[in-house]
Amino acid sequence: MSAENFSRPVFKDAELLRKGAYIDGQWVETAPEYFEVTNPANSEVIATLPEQPVSEVERAIDVAFDSFKTFKNTAPRERARWLRNMYNLMIENIDDLAKLIAWENGKAMSDAIGEVRYAASYYEWYAEEAPRMYGTTIQPGNPTNRVITMRQPVGVCGIICPWNFPSAMITRKAAAALAAGCTVVIKPDSSTPLSALALAYLMEKAGFPKGVFNVVLSHTRTPEFGLRLCESPKVKKITFTGSTAVGKILMKQSASTLKKLSLELGGNAPLIVFADADMDQAVEQAIASKFRGLGQTCVCCNRLYVHSSIIDEFAERIAAEVRKFVVGNGLDPKNTHGCLINGKAVAKVEHHKQDAVSRGAKVVVEGGLLPELGPNFYAPVVLSHVPHDAVVAKEETFGPLCPIFSFDTIEEVVGYANDSEFGLASYVFSKNIDTVYTVAEALESGMVSANTGLFSDCSIPFGGVKESGFGREGSLYGIEDYTVIKTLNIGSLPPRI
Ligand code: SIN
Repeated sequence: MSAENFSRPVFKDAELLRKGAYIDGQWVETAPEYFEVTNPANSEVIATLPEQPVSEVERAIDVAFDSFKTFKNTAPRERARWLRNMYNLMIENIDDLAKLIAWENGKAMSDAIGEVRYAASYYEWYAEEAPRMYGTTIQPGNPTNRVITMRQPVGVCGIICPWNFPSAMITRKAAAALAAGCTVVIKPDSSTPLSALALAYLMEKAGFPKGVFNVVLSHTRTPEFGLRLCESPKVKKITFTGSTAVGKILMKQSASTLKKLSLELGGNAPLIVFADADMDQAVEQAIASKFRGLGQTCVCCNRLYVHSSIIDEFAERIAAEVRKFVVGNGLDPKNTHGCLINGKAVAKVEHHKQDAVSRGAKVVVEGGLLPELGPNFYAPVVLSHVPHDAVVAKEETFGPLCPIFSFDTIEEVVGYANDSEFGLASYVFSKNIDTVYTVAEALESGMVSANTGLFSDCSIPFGGVKESGFGREGSLYGIEDYTVIKTLNIGSLPPRI
């Protein structure tokens, strides 16, 4: 790719770059108004898309509702084949899909390639799960009765997605829903809708029937779209990844129709390094966790608690790795890290840094704003001996700030870790299995990762506790969230022979 193309990438299949919403197997490219999608690396407009009226969400819901009547009865093996086709298509188009992600989100190509693999893996996983929706047989109290349960698809699912994983947060939800026999209406974030539209284009090629996978678009009407999805009696489930504040609004709005919900919300992940940890491993994995997507994932460690006997060495080792980072346009493969999504994200990192420093944190890597690269670029910061009352101990930074806190005892550090309303991911580093197990049991979080900073995988149940939400995505449990259990009780049978 030439240097200019780091501003406007060249795609092998230019058709992946779509210009409209996708409803009932048709591309909807016109609307009374339009909104612009910009590249966060240089603020250039990369697409102009229809700002759809709310009536279009209603139409998409109606289409998904009608399609469900037949799609729910397709053979699970057939759905598995379509899902597998989709996996293959994503892998065939991995470079193009990654460029789209890097272009609209600003993340580095290496992260974007990783995201496409991760996103596609959900199609592969759910291709395998589709034929495996098992029920149970039950021995009821009354001996003349027999009881069986069956899992049935819940119905139309409203999928509301964030910008930090423009592809993977859609596939993690949609692949499970489709495997179960549900139909979907997807509202991607308006800063990163192009990946969602590219997926819709591939869904058509994969063979999915029209009306099963719909993508609606809006920037200014996002809250109204959410309200419509939540209040429509035809939508039976809402699944959302995003902030806790928005999750609470969607939950309230869904109360009117008592919808099934999965909410994957904010985190504030602690990463604990005990004195007996393997230092090389802890440093490498803490870097991988903290700086994935430049700190913009819900599971990035936000607070690093390091035993007082090793904190200075650990901080220096982290700093040495951070100094090797090359920050720049994500599309340029020589850059290890891209930019943040917008000015609000930059301001939050800067606020957390200044707050911690003003309370006495030691600056190990200064980092900070990079105006010469653009307003959304921010060089990673490393702070150590951060006071426990710093704002970053309580709030998720969602950016490249690595705050290292000191602790002395296991009880003390578990107390710090659990002192949060959030409970998504936690990390523990120790070579002592007793320590790992004891701490893992005590941590109030949906996922604990021991001696590794990267645990996300289609095979694991992903989800939180406390105000990080509920529901599990991926794994053998993920499909359950898109089904309801029906009980069949057969009574008054003749005595057994
Ligand atoms: C997220 O940031 O919400 C998802 C992160 C992951 O799947 O690893």
